[in-house]
Amino acid sequence: MDTIEYLFPVVSTVHTLAAVVWVGGMFFAHMALRPSLMLEEPQVRLRVWREVFPRFFAWVWLCVIAIPATGYAMVFVDFGGFAAAGRHVEVMHILGWVMVFLFIFLFVRPFANFKVAVAAEDFPTAAKHLAAIRRIVTTNLILGILVTIAGVSGRFWG
Ligand code: HEM
Repeated sequence: MDTIEYLFPVVSTVHTLAAVVWVGGMFFAHMALRPSLMLEEPQVRLRVWREVFPRFFAWVWLCVIAIPATGYAMVFVDFGGFAAAGRHVEVMHILGWVMVFLFIFLFVRPFANFKVAVAAEDFPTAAKHLAAIRRIVTTNLILGILVTIAGVSGRFWG
């Protein structure tokens, strides 16, 4: 086995762990944290999200760097290019970048505006930006689940 081949399991593991952290974090936020916080007063809810988002998004930044880096490493070093990698990798590639761009947009627009509104204690405006964040996270959660299905099952059909 070439030295570089010893790295394949590491690269693949980092790719999968980053997907688990990103998609799993969105799943928890959407399915468990959000319904629980709906029981609280709007101000409490908005302040909790203000604390939750920066902590989670720091990990998401790591994931949006690690996922394409390890993905391209697998495509070009392991498979020898997109032509040999299969359709499932093309699907993952396109949807993966859509997810990354949606996250970057979320971070620089609604999340930035949300922070300003919470700091100004303008809670109605903060709630409006929170709704925009929720729509993007929901979209990315659905895409993330589809991409994960493509990633794990694609070698059987791609
Ligand atoms: C630039 C974007 C991406 C590229 C180039 C890429 C590339 C790849 C490649 C080449 C594989 C191996 C496929 C196989 O063995 O048949 C893979 C697997 C996988 N990918 Fe991606 N991927 C990308 C984005 C994503 C995203 C956004 C997610 C989920 C959030 C994801 C989740 C997975 C999973 C769960 C696997 C299966 C585990 C593995 O074989 O490592 N990928 N990806």
